[in-house]
Amino acid sequence: MEKTIIAKYSEGMMDKSTQVRLGKLGAYPFERLKKLFSASVPNSALAHIDAGAGEPRLPLPEFVQDTLNANISGFSKYPATRGNAPLPQAIADWLKQRYGLRDMNPATQVLTANGTREALFAIAHALVNPDAEKKPYVMMPNPMYQIYYGAAVTAGAGPYLLPCLAEHDFTPILDEISVDTWENTAFVYVCSPSNPTGWIADRDYYARLLALADKHDFYIVADECYSEIYWQDKPLGLLEVAQDLGRVDYARCLVMNSLSKRSALPGLRSGLIAGDADLIARFAKLRSYTGAATPLPLQHVAAAAWSDEEHVARHLQIYRDSLKAFFDVWGQGDIPAGSFFVWLPVENDEAFAIAAYEQQAVTLLPGSYLGAEDSHGENAGSGFVRLALVDGVEKAAELAARLKKVRV
Ligand SMILES: Cc1ncc(COP(=O)(O)O)c(C=O)c1O
Repeated sequence: MEKTIIAKYSEGMMDKSTQVRLGKLGAYPFERLKKLFSASVPNSALAHIDAGAGEPRLPLPEFVQDTLNANISGFSKYPATRGNAPLPQAIADWLKQRYGLRDMNPATQVLTANGTREALFAIAHALVNPDAEKKPYVMMPNPMYQIYYGAAVTAGAGPYLLPCLAEHDFTPILDEISVDTWENTAFVYVCSPSNPTGWIADRDYYARLLALADKHDFYIVADECYSEIYWQDKPLGLLEVAQDLGRVDYARCLVMNSLSKRSALPGLRSGLIAGDADLIARFAKLRSYTGAATPLPLQHVAAAAWSDEEHVARHLQIYRDSLKAFFDVWGQGDIPAGSFFVWLPVENDEAFAIAAYEQQAVTLLPGSYLGAEDSHGENAGSGFVRLALVDGVEKAAELAARLKKVRV
């Protein structure tokens, strides 16, 4: 019988004061990592390998410089919250060709984001009513991209953790959740392909969630930032499953995607938000107050990046080759279905991270920093470390060779 778990501190997190809620959040994973390594010195005989941050380090796509130069005068104008031409249209066109969507209106179903991180955070503040008696939960996978957790807590919701366990291929478990809990859910974050586990949602998973959303009146926010990085089959998107089920208005659905991973442009800070026009309108209103508009020259670079698949195919090949090189040397385990992360089981994740740093000059992230403790006192990220294969094929092989020598 699997466990379905309410975060131990859900109730305590739902304080009325934003300041108190913020105070209850722990330090961000990379701050924790700095602290963990504060008394350690990396092996000085080896060049450092940073497999900690999921920051692609590939050459800049060719069109970036030229597009920026051609549109530099745009810095003298204020950009629009919903995005200016040609970006919303380029996003709509990409979504249509990538997912076979028949309809995607750039004026009503699309928003631009300054990277999906800010949008994934802000959406909770548009969809959660902290004063409501009902709907106090935001569901999310555990382990998770930590923004979901911080967003839920600061918005005044209780994070409800869906365990992602190796014995279930890391599928966020939806079974054994009570009707009462579903009824009290404001929205569910899905991360597919998943950071950190590499799991990809299939048609049945999205369809089941959509049926639950209709039955219990909640929304789905799908973070599909790693959609263009996969080992075999192209990941499905929430919007295409919705369309196939006849939900041509994408009711209850929002997807987010990013140029940080597919285009290796994390510094551009550009992403997309798309789906249900009512949710888009609500979110656009919030964003018009928070000031989340993207500078015009950067919008032009983003439009060029969504319009070019050549560089994306080139990057995909590098990620695939890197994963293969890592596992060839490592000699065990399966290549993840999606993303460029390796979610490696270890005895003690913090001890392994320290040993890898001191003995082999490798930075990686303890899995527990990407999880949250559940009501059973367990953290679904413990016993794993996350490696980001973002430095090319040779470094991926070298990383595996070095990790094989780590002794805890
Ligand atoms: C799962 C996931 N979602 C969203 C993001 C945010 O990416 P960005 O803000 O660069 O678009 C990241 C970045 O690491 C991520 O791993």
